[in-house]
Amino acid sequence: MDAATTRGPPADSAAIYRRLLGYIGPYRGFAVIAVVGMAFEAAAAGVFTALMQPLVDETFVARNPAAALWVPLAIVALFTVRGLATFATSYSIARIGRGVVGTLRRQLMGRLMVLPSRWFDRESNPAIVQRLTWFPDQVTQASSDAIKVIVTDSLTLLALLVVMLMQSVKVTLTMLVMGPAIVAIVAIVGRRYRRISGRVQDSMLDLARIGEEAVAAQQLVKLHGAADREGARFAEAVERTQRLQVKIEATRATSSALVQWIAAVALALIVWLAGREAMAGRLAAGEFVALMTAMMAMLPSLKRITQVQSMIQRGVAAADAMFRLLDTPAENDRGTRTLARAAGRIVFEDVTLRYDASRQPALDEVSFVAEPGRVTAIVGRSGSGKSSLVRLLPRFYEPDAGRILLDGVPLADYRLADLRRQIAFVGQDTMLFDDTVANNIAYAAQHEVPREAILAAAESANAMDFIRHLPQGLDTPVGERGVLLSGGQRQRIAIARAILRDAPILVLDEATSALDNESERLIQQALERVMRDRTTLVIAHRLSTIEHADQVLVLDGGRIVERGTHAELVAAGGLYAQLHRMQFRDA
Ligand SMILES: Nc1ncnc2c1ncn2[C@@H]1O[C@H](COP(=O)(O)OP(=O)(O)OP(=O)(O)O)[C@@H](O)[C@H]1O
Ligand SMILES: [Mg+2]
Repeated sequence: MDAATTRGPPADSAAIYRRLLGYIGPYRGFAVIAVVGMAFEAAAAGVFTALMQPLVDETFVARNPAAALWVPLAIVALFTVRGLATFATSYSIARIGRGVVGTLRRQLMGRLMVLPSRWFDRESNPAIVQRLTWFPDQVTQASSDAIKVIVTDSLTLLALLVVMLMQSVKVTLTMLVMGPAIVAIVAIVGRRYRRISGRVQDSMLDLARIGEEAVAAQQLVKLHGAADREGARFAEAVERTQRLQVKIEATRATSSALVQWIAAVALALIVWLAGREAMAGRLAAGEFVALMTAMMAMLPSLKRITQVQSMIQRGVAAADAMFRLLDTPAENDRGTRTLARAAGRIVFEDVTLRYDASRQPALDEVSFVAEPGRVTAIVGRSGSGKSSLVRLLPRFYEPDAGRILLDGVPLADYRLADLRRQIAFVGQDTMLFDDTVANNIAYAAQHEVPREAILAAAESANAMDFIRHLPQGLDTPVGERGVLLSGGQRQRIAIARAILRDAPILVLDEATSALDNESERLIQQALERVMRDRTTLVIAHRLSTIEHADQVLVLDGGRIVERGTHAELVAAGGLYAQLHRMQFRDA
């Protein structure tokens, strides 16, 4: 649950690789084809260089007419086989890779949807979305590239080595001396690369976060003339990313250059040795050409192998972030009690909620009873804990002390899905999906909803009068987050959603935004219709709502400081009476 579970130092790479390999399981067949294909590619490289010897010694030196014919034919045959092998390899890797990416994405999304609200409070949305979209690709690309290099290039090196040994053992062994030097350099460079690559990923997330914030708040930015400030903040992040990316490129370039230089020195050594062998009559021209061709063919493979470390590290860093997300504990859903339809009696007993241990509690020993068929209004200043209180009912947050009972049973004893099905929740910020009006209303129901039911719900929510004027009526798209509608219209759609849900508990977190009298009246009427025969908890800012409530709870600093009916509280002359004079507007 801790933020540290999704950040922090990278875990053991071997464990991460083992876990990734597990994802290939269902594609074992393709994996075998891919490896066989790679082996063919490597063997083809060996055979091709071996052909250099008869080409030179038989065709050119001995002028053998048979060789002049079979060598070119062999080359065609060889590349036919190699082409088929390359295709089989690439195709199989694509199948495995895309399959694994899909599985990872589905798993990540599945996990995200059951993570507790506290987790989302700590993560930025772009960072979360990036783990869903970019990371699986990054991981799969890096691992399949790495595997391809490891298998194909090491087998190619092996095949070429065999060819070389066939020509001259002495010359070939000289080359092996250079091996350890190359390995050492690769190891050193790899460690540095891994460190920087983690930082590059963090800085990319920063970039996305800052960019998204500025884009989302573009009207605010313009209004405050803060374009320069946002630009500067972004530029700073850009520069940091840029610096790190150049650094990582420099690390990679240094490593390639060094390894290639070492290979060149090895080449010089071998040429020198080969010259001496030739003079001693132990090395024919064809054998020398085959040796040289093999050595040249080794260079690209060697170069790629030095880069494999960086590929692996890139993949491991992304896989690590992804697996941490997959391993983040889900919401606690250990309750076993089933619940078809609750009567709706809600009891809070000394409930305390802290978002943050270092701050004072958002709710402090709150106790009350909400009876079925009754309306409980919750009032209080901004930040007094009203929304926090109602968010405990669907268990978006867990109280730190005290208990909440529904029909006499603690909330945690119910199955989470059963509990949540009992609640229709119209939140403070109306959340709409980028879909049609009708589908947004029907979102409340788990199953297919008849059109008439949607229409009836919209009618009861007094939403039809504006929906009718939309270009496509109920089938009008509402835009991303409902931006194409006004605040009051969004709210009425949310109320229609709640009506359609027909749950025994209704929670309304009234928006404080000022609505015109007409809209207020319409919403008020709609609400009264939904409140009937349910347990209603309403965070109220409108006098008309509060006056009709059976009990009013007055929150201040997370505590219930007063309770009673509207009339009693006004008469008592306390905080409520004060709020009443200053805040509540009559509809
Ligand atoms: N997700 C959260 N993480 C941390 N602190 C939070 C979170 N949500 C609310 N708080 C804090 O808890 C306190 C109560 O907030 P809450 O949203 O319940 O107030 P409210 O009474 O609904 O206010 P308003 O009338 O403005 O909506 C505030 O101090 C707020 O800063
Ligand atoms: Mg609130």
